Amino acid sequence: MLPVIQFAPVRGVTTPWFYSIFSNNFDGISHAITPFVPLGNPEKQAKRIRNDAKAISSCRFAIVPQLLAQSSSEFIQTALFFKEAGYGTINWNLGCPYPTVTNRGRGAGLLPFPEKIVSILKDVTDALQINISIKTRLGLTTADDLGRLLPLLCELPLDEIIIHGRTARQMYEGDQHWEALDACVQKSPHPVVLNGDITSVDSFLHMCQRYPGISRFMIGRGLLRDPYLAARISGLPVPAGAERQKQLHQFHNAVFLHYRNTLSGTAHRLQKMKEYWVYFASWFEEDAKVFKQIKKIRTESDYDALVAQLFENAALSNE
Ligand SMILES: Cc1cc2nc3c(=O)[nH]c(=O)nc-3n(C[C@H](O)[C@H](O)[C@H](O)COP(=O)(O)O)c2cc1C
Repeated sequence: MLPVIQFAPVRGVTTPWFYSIFSNNFDGISHAITPFVPLGNPEKQAKRIRNDAKAISSCRFAIVPQLLAQSSSEFIQTALFFKEAGYGTINWNLGCPYPTVTNRGRGAGLLPFPEKIVSILKDVTDALQINISIKTRLGLTTADDLGRLLPLLCELPLDEIIIHGRTARQMYEGDQHWEALDACVQKSPHPVVLNGDITSVDSFLHMCQRYPGISRFMIGRGLLRDPYLAARISGLPVPAGAERQKQLHQFHNAVFLHYRNTLSGTAHRLQKMKEYWVYFASWFEEDAKVFKQIKKIRTESDYDALVAQLFENAALSNE
């Protein structure tokens, strides 16, 4: 079975524009989910959705937008904006672990209430002609919430269910609850996408061994730290040496150019790039040192000089 690799949403980082730039530099991704669109003023939300959707046509893989909702009306309002902007599939975030989200009954905050989730999905599928997928985790505080929800989803037309094997309390760190995840994979009435901690071909193969029936995988941090990871997993060619250096440099420059054109003020732009360097530093062998150097930068000319010097002289990792 050929693996289907999806790009996981990472808020503040994997915007639709980022996906478009990524897709024009690296191979192996089937589609990508955006970070959830912020709630709030509907007009502002619609404008933001329309603006983000401009990236769809230049992206070489499909982009699926994500929403947060704690009621049918909240869901339908945002979904209609997505539909108007030209999207055919949307993703419901039922996994966000942040207390500001869960305390308001959104993201993973809905997981202890399976009947409410089903009722929202029934209303939405009655009201809208749009494909829906779910991105979720095992539970809010315990790993058994999702296991209770899955059998109730059998009558609902869902594209796929992306599962992260942790509870919200664990955020994105610590051991996954493998036995609870095994049970969910078995129970799911819809195709499962496995998500979490795929950072190398070895960790991918480890997942394949445990779940031989699964062919869909979603990767976030691993792809940001190694943009060639999907290609490596799929057996596609991966450049080495000077060619790789050049490609990574070009990709970086395209991301920075996007922010030079869209953000005003050096501090704002450098702050945004530093968010990327949390991951981009791993492209280099001495990642901790590289990140420290980047963090110290205060002007764009120093930034340009450091970046040029890194791509010229610093040894790349994964060579
Ligand atoms: C900083 C950060 C922001 C994230 N933002 C979102 C988000 O907006 N929506 C979402 O569904 N998941 C979000 N996630 C979760 C990721 O999509 C993914 O599930 C998680 O990183 C585990 O996968 P990975 O180990 O491949 O990175 C975020 C994760 C991180 C670390």
